[in-house]
Amino acid sequence: MNMELNTIREVSSHAGEAVRIGCWVHGKRSSGKIQFLQLRDGTGFIQGVVVKSEVSEQVWEAAAKLTQESSLYVSGTVREDARSQSGFELNVTDVEVIQLAVDYPITPKEHGVDFLMDHRHLWLRSPRQRAIMVVRAQIIRAIQQFFDDNGFYLVDPPILTPSSCEGTTNLFHTKYFDEDAYLTQSGQLYMEAAAMALGKVYSFGPTFRAEKSKTRRHLIEFWMIEPEMAFVDHEQNLIVQERFVSHIVQSVLAHCPKELETLGRDISKLEPIQAPFPRITYDEAIRRLKENGHEIEWGEDFGAPHETEIAKQFDKPVFITHYPASFKAFYMKPDPTRPEVVLCADMIAPEGYGEIIGGSQRIDDPELMRERFKEHELAEDAYRWYLDLRKYGTVPHSGFGLGLERTVAWICGLEHVRETIPFPRLLYRLYP
Ligand code: 4AD
Ligand code: MG
Repeated sequence: MNMELNTIREVSSHAGEAVRIGCWVHGKRSSGKIQFLQLRDGTGFIQGVVVKSEVSEQVWEAAAKLTQESSLYVSGTVREDARSQSGFELNVTDVEVIQLAVDYPITPKEHGVDFLMDHRHLWLRSPRQRAIMVVRAQIIRAIQQFFDDNGFYLVDPPILTPSSCEGTTNLFHTKYFDEDAYLTQSGQLYMEAAAMALGKVYSFGPTFRAEKSKTRRHLIEFWMIEPEMAFVDHEQNLIVQERFVSHIVQSVLAHCPKELETLGRDISKLEPIQAPFPRITYDEAIRRLKENGHEIEWGEDFGAPHETEIAKQFDKPVFITHYPASFKAFYMKPDPTRPEVVLCADMIAPEGYGEIIGGSQRIDDPELMRERFKEHELAEDAYRWYLDLRKYGTVPHSGFGLGLERTVAWICGLEHVRETIPFPRLLYRLYP
């Protein structure tokens, strides 16, 4: 880092002073005697004003040659300017060109999604994409802060695994020398082992699902946050989740007002996101869906239109609890009063963003776990270690997984998850 340089973010504390900033030209216009440079440096945007009568011929010419995305060091005096978005302008005194960029492919005109995705490495520089990445970084900061403040240890589960966690249909297969291996779908099973060692733990890492679904909610590679807690039951699990998600949303509101404005996000939809969140059972959700004309029967899983219908009925995220065991994961604990349903919950985000969290209390009885292995045709041999957790000091425990990208999509108000991650891995897209 060049410690001599200033940043656009900090100009507010340099009003009236001279600064020197490393930056790029985002855009430019000229009125003959004045050139207006839209400059960006990653920390923000500022307008640089070059007045012909106030600079040398050489500086004027250097500014005139600047093209979109040219890189430079700009020097100038910071001036308060109520009309500009940042509240400040730069009265340019010097321009040192680093490189003149030629034919930058992303022009101010409209481009199609495929073109933008092919140029994702450059598209990230746009004000909108930058705002999304800044919000994503703030969400990550809020997540770490929440767990640090609540006594959780960060534990890293493996990426290469010998077995599945969330069903065998969407596993990414690879060779592990002579053995078969899969990219992890979820760190949960390992986090259960960690919870028995450390009490309250969470993981934060990439997960992979070879899902042949091309929807606005699915990525092939996405990041998941997976807390796991010993001696915590289903009800207590929900309380942690609603406090967690409220903290994330309020933290973004507090720290990213400019970015949310750039994104045109209606923040009145985010402000009410405070615990507690409403809870309905799967039975109740089925009733509400039928009432609204959906053709769905008890025992069927929800699709996007069902989740959207339920979400529409609330202005906060809503928990749908007690799903049928028949289509949920093998490790979920049956409700002791009604074993055909499990002690689980999905958290459905408002405004049609769908499921952002899946969680449950876990089976803690070794015999029941073995039965489930059989029912789900999971080779017990591969899960021997997982069974050990139930054999040596089993305890009630619960956890959940938050999908980072769906959370970013919701908080930013985006159409599609492809914009929520720097380099999305999508069905049939591995470049760049
Ligand atoms: O509901 P899921 O499959 O739950 C699990 O993996 C559990 N093992 C988590 C746990 O209890 N530790 O996935 C959790 C969340 C979903 O709610 C969703 O937000 C996100 O991960 N997710 C995806 N996000 C983007 N693209 C995909 N293909 C996703 N699949 C799941
Ligand atoms: Mg789920």
